[in-house]
Amino acid sequence: MIKPDAVAGGHSGAILKQIEEAGFEIVALKLTHLSDAQASQFYAIHAERPFFKTLVEFMSSGKIIAAVLKKTNAVADFRTLIGNTNPEKADAGTVRKLYAKSIEFNAIHGSDSDENAMIEAGFFFSNFERFN
Ligand code: CMP
Repeated sequence: MIKPDAVAGGHSGAILKQIEEAGFEIVALKLTHLSDAQASQFYAIHAERPFFKTLVEFMSSGKIIAAVLKKTNAVADFRTLIGNTNPEKADAGTVRKLYAKSIEFNAIHGSDSDENAMIEAGFFFSNFERFN
């Protein structure tokens, strides 16, 4: 998911290009604006964290781009491509190093496991399996 800071900043095209050039196939894509309830549901796993309220406010503050990506070793390779959650710790050339402002407003989200990738893809695309 390309987050509201990166979409509002006009970086969507550059980020999608970087994703494709890294060998990911985009199999589903959607520009949308999450409601407070949708952002809360997406990040429900973080509900007890001190940053949850501001995370939900941020994620529902503007448009996002949701994508389902396909690649061998996709989860690990995508996390390498986007870099550390904290842009100060992210490697040069990663999406977060290039576009994130802070650990909170960090431009992009990637699933942390194949299992969560399926859940998160289903959150945005009811029939994404058929797009393959
Ligand atoms: P993401 O990879 O989408 O997963 C959870 C999000 O919570 C994370 O990116 C950040 O946007 C946010 N987040 C994680 N850790 C912190 C933190 N310590 N302070 C504020 N926001 C955080």
